[in-house]
Amino acid sequence: MQAKDIQRVGVLGLGTMGHGIAQTFAAADCSVTAFDESEAARSTAIERIRSNLVQMAAEGLIDASAVEEIVERIVIVDQPGRAVEEAEFVVEAVLENLPLKQALFPQLESWVSVETVLASNTSTFPMTQISRDMQHPERAINTHWFNPPHLVPVVEVVPGERTSPEVTELTLELHKRIGKQAVRINREIPGLLVNRVQIAMIREVFHLWDQGIASAEDIDTAVRGSMGFRMAANGPLEIADFGGLDVWLKVFEGLAPEIRSDSVIPSKVREIVDEGHYGMKTGQGIYDYPPEVAEQKRHERDQRFMALAKLFYGQSSGDEA
Ligand SMILES: NC(=O)c1ccc[n+]([C@@H]2O[C@H](COP(=O)([O-])OP(=O)(O)OC[C@H]3O[C@@H](n4cnc5c(N)ncnc54)[C@H](O)[C@@H]3O)[C@@H](O)[C@H]2O)c1
Repeated sequence: MQAKDIQRVGVLGLGTMGHGIAQTFAAADCSVTAFDESEAARSTAIERIRSNLVQMAAEGLIDASAVEEIVERIVIVDQPGRAVEEAEFVVEAVLENLPLKQALFPQLESWVSVETVLASNTSTFPMTQISRDMQHPERAINTHWFNPPHLVPVVEVVPGERTSPEVTELTLELHKRIGKQAVRINREIPGLLVNRVQIAMIREVFHLWDQGIASAEDIDTAVRGSMGFRMAANGPLEIADFGGLDVWLKVFEGLAPEIRSDSVIPSKVREIVDEGHYGMKTGQGIYDYPPEVAEQKRHERDQRFMALAKLFYGQSSGDEA
């Protein structure tokens, strides 16, 4: 089977990630069948997808006339087997729980055809562990999307120790075909690639805030308007080449010993979390979010995501996107 042959996709889990993943495949002309064990998730999925699509149409990311066509390609079913039985590619996006996923994958095998590829959107568990009890672990692979999945371009594609090279290639090709920037991660390492880089950065950012080196507002402005601005245009390795590796190495040697490299959460961050302030979802975190402010902030973020999506989906690492 080749990526171009994949027309039917099954999605399990319609939460934060699953509904956007289902939407993305449907927007790329695939027929999607999807299941969630929660009746509430099943009954609201289409409305959530439609609302994402309407927003995208308002921003010119898709044609308004395409909204209903895309929605019609998605069928929500009330049995997991029915969601996957005709699929050529399955994405699992259920809760992040290893025993649950370990039990689910062998069950999926019993419902699908021998050629079907079974992917997990797990953020933390190696596919080698999830596929432990499968008869054909060579068809199992980790495809790690980012939230919101219908807008963030990258999908990390990570084979387990027993995943076949053909399945890895096919998965990379498929995600490029549906417009994603699919990146191959050669080995299963904790955090894969992107989360490692994010944590390296946020450790230093938390530290700078904790030490009062600048206000939260100024830290956010500084990082967003410098590193963030440049990284929306080029990756960090290219940026290093632009600047000159001789310069970067000097700066690295001088600064690396000065920055945080430990695993201790800076105390100001630990304190607010211990007080139950988790950020936007509790109304307070590093900043305060009265309900109307939270709503406005979310709206602004979504608008910016869509502006960036226009930039990213215009250029692609994939050949066919
Ligand atoms: N949220 C993120 O930013 C993010 C990013 C990348 C990867 N992931 C991964 O994606 C997966 C899903 O995360 P999420 O944030 O969408 O979670 P979520 O809690 O929003 O959604 C999970 C959904 O799975 C459903 N579910 C639970 N058990 C099920 C089962 N046996 N069969 C079918 N449905 C079942 C739940 O009812 C729920 O609707 C996790 O593995 C997570 O680690 C999440």
